Amino acid sequence: MSSKAPVIIVALDFASAREALRLAERLDPKDCRVKVGLELFTEAGPGIVTDLKRSGLEVFLDLKFHDIPNTVARACARACELGVWMLNVHALGGSRMLKAAREAVAPGTAALIGVTVLTSHSADELAALGLGDPLSRTQQLAASCREAGLDGVVCSTHEAAFLREIYGPEFVLVTPGIRPAGSTQDDQRRTMGIADALRVGAHYLVIGRPITAAPNPQAALEACLAEVRGLRSEFR
Ligand code: C5P
Repeated sequence: MSSKAPVIIVALDFASAREALRLAERLDPKDCRVKVGLELFTEAGPGIVTDLKRSGLEVFLDLKFHDIPNTVARACARACELGVWMLNVHALGGSRMLKAAREAVAPGTAALIGVTVLTSHSADELAALGLGDPLSRTQQLAASCREAGLDGVVCSTHEAAFLREIYGPEFVLVTPGIRPAGSTQDDQRRTMGIADALRVGAHYLVIGRPITAAPNPQAALEACLAEVRGLRSEFR
């Protein structure tokens, strides 16, 4: 995947397919992509991917597969059959698991991304888990993703600049924990605004509740898009 202007991924974290599709039908595939995560997938099943694709939307399947290599590889293969644009595995599954996933997802089919450190983890929480500090753990997990041939990583915006510096513009950086001005932090701990996220080199900005929980989700998305468009020329 080549370096290109940053794109918003709307996290469709809804309790039903009906709610997700209601927002999705107002989205223009030229403006954004969508993410199906654990809640929506568990409730709606794989058919939600087909339904979203029917609206022309590219789907990131965010199930963060983390299991033995064979199980993860087979799950990745099933996800690819659904025609997802991007899928992810958890980098904590280790090198063999990452390589098995890579073998199951032929390059050029779906983008295969590794999750490094959750953006909901504070430095203290990470240390309590015995995982050290966010930057060195992210660096180590990103290195194993790169070594296994993955297309990029999910990371917090706080580590994005560092990874961009090491791996260059082609290694895809997907950043959740984006909080446009005026929105609440929710359960996220390492957050950043849109402009700063773009400045640190994020390719994809995952935005959920600031859009989906807004009184007017469409207007909230428009405001995010306007901010991205305003800054886009800087990132071409
Ligand atoms: O609502 P909010 O903008 O916090 O949503 C962020 C989305 O990104 C959620 O769907 C969450 O599961 C996902 N995510 C994350 N941190 C990661 C990986 C995925 O917040 N490291």
